[in-house]
Amino acid sequence: MSAEEDKSVQFPVGVLISGRGSNFMRIHQAQLAGRIAGHIACVISSRPDAEGLAYAREHGIPSYVLPAEVMRREDAFAETLIGWLQQHHVQLVVLAGFLKKIPDAAVQAYAGRMINIHPALLPAFGGKGMYGRRVHEAVLDYGCKVSGATVHIVTAEYDAGPPVLQKCVPVLEDDTPDTLARRVLEVEHELLPHAVDLFARGLVEVRGRRVLIRQA
Ligand code: GRF
Repeated sequence: MSAEEDKSVQFPVGVLISGRGSNFMRIHQAQLAGRIAGHIACVISSRPDAEGLAYAREHGIPSYVLPAEVMRREDAFAETLIGWLQQHHVQLVVLAGFLKKIPDAAVQAYAGRMINIHPALLPAFGGKGMYGRRVHEAVLDYGCKVSGATVHIVTAEYDAGPPVLQKCVPVLEDDTPDTLARRVLEVEHELLPHAVDLFARGLVEVRGRRVLIRQA
């Protein structure tokens, strides 16, 4: 297959992580299995001890750690991040459990080409401080009958960009935050690789707040 025919060669993806990195690994596994177009060109972590980094190293994926002192300065953070992404000709930035606020300059540089996965049905249970276990606790505290996952475009405001993909899961009567988190994570693992594939195949059109998915 020539480079022109192989869509994955033409669509480098940059993945940002802060911890476990299971969403990142699922994208990579989908890529290795040939289930999606696009390929992970680099992984960038906000923490040196993120478990996902070990996976990246084992699989020969270029990986970077953002130093804490760089992330403290918005301009240095943006410059470093954009620099690494450009070095790998990244076309789509995927926030997969990345816990730092992306500097505005980087959001603008990748406007419409940066996505995040959130473990609830936005706009419910999103925003600053709403991450990880807290989201599932809030869903249960509210008494919701459904939860789910949202892949959305990243904008300047936390979790406020237009949804690209959403999928529900039921909330069961004996759910704890942990059991609900596991059920939602399964859906995240399905949605995020699918979103990467849609972008890589040029099937996503952002029209204001409506994200249109064209049929292949
Ligand atoms: C996921 O639940 C994701 O929705 C949230 O952080 C978690 C990351 O998990 N933003 P992992 O690091 O991909 O395993």
